[in-house]
Amino acid sequence: MINRFTILIVSLNIIFGSVPDASGVNGAVTSSNKFASDVGINILKDGGNAVDAAIAVGFALAVVHPGAGNIGGGGFMVIRLADGTKTTIDFRETAPQKASRDMFLDENGDIIEGKSWSTSWASGVPGSVAGFGLAHEEFGTLKWSQLIDSSIQLARDGYSLNYNDANSFNRYNDFLTKDSVTRTIFVRDEEFKTGDILVQRNLASTLERISRAGWEEFYTGKTADLIQKCMERTDGLISKNDLKNYIAVQRDPITFSYRDHIVYSMPPASSGGIALAGILNQLENIDLSSLPFHGADHIHYLTECQRRVYADRSTMLGDMDFIPVPISHLISQEYADNHWMSIDSIYATSSSEILPEEPPSYYESEETTHYSVVDKWGNAVSVTTTINGWFGSGITVDGAGFLLNNEMDDFSSKPGTPNAYGLVGAKANEIASGKRMLSSMTPTIVENPNGDLLLVVGSPGGSTIITTAMQVISNVIDFKMNIEDAVESPRYHHQWLPDVVYVEQFGYATETLDALKERGYKFALRSSIGEANCIMYDPNTKIIHASGDSRRGASAIAY
Ligand code: DON
Repeated sequence: MINRFTILIVSLNIIFGSVPDASGVNGAVTSSNKFASDVGINILKDGGNAVDAAIAVGFALAVVHPGAGNIGGGGFMVIRLADGTKTTIDFRETAPQKASRDMFLDENGDIIEGKSWSTSWASGVPGSVAGFGLAHEEFGTLKWSQLIDSSIQLARDGYSLNYNDANSFNRYNDFLTKDSVTRTIFVRDEEFKTGDILVQRNLASTLERISRAGWEEFYTGKTADLIQKCMERTDGLISKNDLKNYIAVQRDPITFSYRDHIVYSMPPASSGGIALAGILNQLENIDLSSLPFHGADHIHYLTECQRRVYADRSTMLGDMDFIPVPISHLISQEYADNHWMSIDSIYATSSSEILPEEPPSYYESEETTHYSVVDKWGNAVSVTTTINGWFGSGITVDGAGFLLNNEMDDFSSKPGTPNAYGLVGAKANEIASGKRMLSSMTPTIVENPNGDLLLVVGSPGGSTIITTAMQVISNVIDFKMNIEDAVESPRYHHQWLPDVVYVEQFGYATETLDALKERGYKFALRSSIGEANCIMYDPNTKIIHASGDSRRGASAIAY
């Protein structure tokens, strides 16, 4: 029914853009699930800082967002503290000791279908619990157990499923039925419905052990024993030593400027920060704001910048603890300018004409969820975490109640053969014991030119994560959008190979796409790209605006 209130809101939207999902001056959390965002906000209200809240949200998502939230996977955290500290925590999974370069190839050297996806060989050594532990030791202020209490309760007493939860269990019914342990938790005789309660007793006990004995319990305690048992049952590779030896690592962020704003993002083993810099640095060569938003020229230039950077991603990037990654070269303006000069002002460059950079000669020697938190002190945390595919490998740890990741698929199993996200890789990202597989996760924090916090950004979406983060940042900086519009605007994506622009259906004018086809572009429709749960801080009003991406029904809360 159209009433005066609706007319008022619509008019305000036309004049000012959309209204952010949540705004407040004390803190904000935006994540894939309302229960998890609530947990984070309550930690902030109890006096915790943004790092405390981010850890608590991470544990909560492991309970209420089992398709992607996890303690059986890994991820990345970018932290910007009010005291000036900028750092990142890398809790990416590692390849088990028994992993080897050709483990997913048959005797003819061909990929064995599904082996890096839905078997226990697909799992890397999980890093999430160590990552949360390291974040807490370095920057947390509340007691560790306080950060896990609510998640234990959500697992033990159960939580009610929203439409997306129920729908995803139903859609993945066959996948979830394959593993004998998974099926006892996530499969029912009747279809799941909105409002059904999901109880996860074994997960509650696991979280209780981690809460009582500390994060190390996961790697050396009963949970490690249960992972070992699961590996025996499923003929898997992860050993007790792999677990004991896992370490989360604190690393310096990839830091660069975009139109005088300072951007902090994730270094390898994520390609996110480097690729983001590579694209945005090219765009420094053009005043995007002078182009019609999502007109043919705008899409053309962004696509060409993306194409060039993804080509280099395929050869140059991998775990920098294993191979030398020429970071300063790849994030330099000179590198970007060279790429920019090869872009035609009208026509698409065919990807076959773009040769990825040759790695330096010293090479010779080798379903995800994003959430953002800002607290009242101005601390900001950007976290992307994943078990890779939705519900990971589909295998649940016996008696421990959590799914294992299928992150090994992010390695390049065979040079030049695409992985699940169509990404090709080479030597830099080949499998080796203890190595981290290359990621696209791009948790990022952006400051205004004067150093004030501006954005906390990130998204799931496999290879599309980088271009999603890039578009949200450009929408705000170049097109002066508020965070809601920046997140909800239609998105597109190009990754060099395949040579096609993925566009969200319904997002683009037919005339624009037709004009781009004339310039040599091919398009493929996607129902949606990413789930950018982002925060924007307005230093003038001191209001924190949070947006939960409506593409997957996320939840933003502020107070
Ligand atoms: O690390 C990566 O790049 C992938 N494993 C992320 C997977 C992902 O985003 C799935 N979610 N939609």
